[in-house]
Amino acid sequence: MENEAMGGHVMVPVERLSLELPNGEIVVGYDKDVSALQEEISALRSRQRHLDRRRREALDKLIDLKGSIRVFCRVRPLVQTNNLKTKSPVTVEQEKIAVKSVGIKKEFSVDRVFDQESTQEDVFQEVKPILRSALDGHNVCILAYGQTGTGKTYTMEGTDGKLGIVPRAIQELFSLASEDSSSPYSFSISMLEVYLGSLRDLLAQRQPLFRPMECSTSCNLSILATKSGAVEVEGLTDVSIPDLKKANQWYCRGRRARSTSWTNVNDASSRSHCLTRITIRRHGATEEVSKLWLIDLGGSERLLKTGASGLTMDEGKAINLSLSALGDVIAALRRKRSHVPYRNSKLTQILSDSLGKEHPLYQFGSFSFPETL
Ligand SMILES: Nc1ncnc2c1ncn2[C@@H]1O[C@H](COP(=O)(O)OP(=O)(O)O)[C@@H](O)[C@H]1O
Ligand SMILES: [Mg+2]
Repeated sequence: MENEAMGGHVMVPVERLSLELPNGEIVVGYDKDVSALQEEISALRSRQRHLDRRRREALDKLIDLKGSIRVFCRVRPLVQTNNLKTKSPVTVEQEKIAVKSVGIKKEFSVDRVFDQESTQEDVFQEVKPILRSALDGHNVCILAYGQTGTGKTYTMEGTDGKLGIVPRAIQELFSLASEDSSSPYSFSISMLEVYLGSLRDLLAQRQPLFRPMECSTSCNLSILATKSGAVEVEGLTDVSIPDLKKANQWYCRGRRARSTSWTNVNDASSRSHCLTRITIRRHGATEEVSKLWLIDLGGSERLLKTGASGLTMDEGKAINLSLSALGDVIAALRRKRSHVPYRNSKLTQILSDSLGKEHPLYQFGSFSFPETL
């Protein structure tokens, strides 16, 4: 092969590059006719496809080696309080976190710990490679879990000056797609909230108020499995996002819909799950579709500890039910069980075509003290 490939780039001999000069100058000594040039272009295209395939295979192998399910722990910086202890009860290593409470030390091993000093950029660097994987056709999930107030929303959404994973991931997808000349991509976005076992479309034209009593009529989207095995939420708004600006506008709209529609805000939204789905279409000889799920899970506080009753108790039970169903699914996948119990909650049903051996899943457990102890 006379064209050498280095680092994914096709190296073209200099005298041929001159053909691409925009001023149309005729290159002296160039004696090829048009058909020879066309052949050359098609050979280069095929070489590019070959390199693209190899890049995908290498990334798949890397994900395989690292494990498609990865668990991270992020420690929220301590909020200043009067009874601030001078010594932190948490010790953090690269892959281990130890918590000391009433004299008992508990240790957890994870793929990586992000300590109090970690920035949104540090966290994003870790998830960047699987965004490439999503563009390559894999369904991918990134989720944040932990108790209320520990930093799940901060990690996923971020704040104005400190963008979280979701806005950064959207930006990265557009940037990767614009660099990839081998195939055109198009993206669309959907956002939904799962509350007390009901699904609510956050990008619907008319936003129903999310009063629990009205849920059965206004938030009853159902989940369908298509013939190809893909899972779809029936009637869920899926808006095309041609550019980053439009994507951010829709994302902000979904976030607003989540926070303003609660009749009793009082942190009720922390007892729902918020799911953002980016659908990626790769247009080529055949169209490939993949999904990137970005999920801010409901707070995982224990009912006993919160002393909940009435509706709060029901909300807590619903959250606990879906979180434990999700935990069961992930445990079954980790143990490579033949049966994976996707059907036990709405949350796991929606994600059933995106949680599996070949689908990368990154979990960010958020953690703060003394609240979590
Ligand atoms: N890593 C962090 N750095 C700075 N502030 C944080 C961090 N994590 C959380 N916070 C702040 O702590 C508060 C609670 O975080 P939040 O993300 O709303 O928790 P959750 O979604 O788990 O209930 C927010 O004011 C948030 O901005
Ligand atoms: Mg939150």
